Amino acid sequence: MERLQKVIANSGFTSRRKAEELIKEGKVKVNGKIIKELGTKVSYEDSIIIDGVLLKKEENKEYYLLNKPRGVICSVSDDKNRKTVVDLIETDTRIYPIGRLDYDTTGLILLTNDGELTNILSHPNNNVEKTYIAKIEGILSKENIDALKKGIIIDGRKCKPVRFKVRKKDLEKNTSMVEITIVEGRNHIVKKLFHELKHEVIKLKRESYAFLTLDNLKSGEYRILSIKEVKKLYSLK
Ligand code: URA
Repeated sequence: MERLQKVIANSGFTSRRKAEELIKEGKVKVNGKIIKELGTKVSYEDSIIIDGVLLKKEENKEYYLLNKPRGVICSVSDDKNRKTVVDLIETDTRIYPIGRLDYDTTGLILLTNDGELTNILSHPNNNVEKTYIAKIEGILSKENIDALKKGIIIDGRKCKPVRFKVRKKDLEKNTSMVEITIVEGRNHIVKKLFHELKHEVIKLKRESYAFLTLDNLKSGEYRILSIKEVKKLYSLK
């Protein structure tokens, strides 16, 4: 739900100030009823008629980059009432995450209400690179590293990382930190890759998505994408 004058202004019909004047003058009807109250909330499904002309509504497009914390679900709502990524963004617009990160995965996730961009970024042909840092159990053998580089069959389909690097080995704790870049969007794909090699993922963080990185965003913080960044994402098509 948005304020009536905002919906009118967002449609490009007129400025917000002019829209307020039209409302006060009694020239705006919502679902057949004249509305003179400026704060009235309407939805984009409501019929709005101004001076006899039906308003064609276009929701403003919004784009956010969030550093998702652990314990937050990547969806618009949750039947178990858990916190969602959408709850972390202050907006009245119906945004949703592009793709998903697991409940216990942290890091970069984009949210928007732009269906066209969502389709571009989700389409496998557009090869959008995502880089993850995974803390895994054990130390990878040379054979496993070679197998990863060649690609591993997951659920009957090969997944071949674009890049792969062991960042750190902790021989005492018997864990490793690995950096892996993939273009795949399949659910739980990184965990499944390492599971195939018998190295369970202990922690997972997405550090980058296409050319976007977390920079200094803290866990739970977000920022709005610039127009330049949105255009660059569109150019990935
Ligand atoms: N791969 C996973 O296993 N989990 C994620 O959250 C993202 C990619």
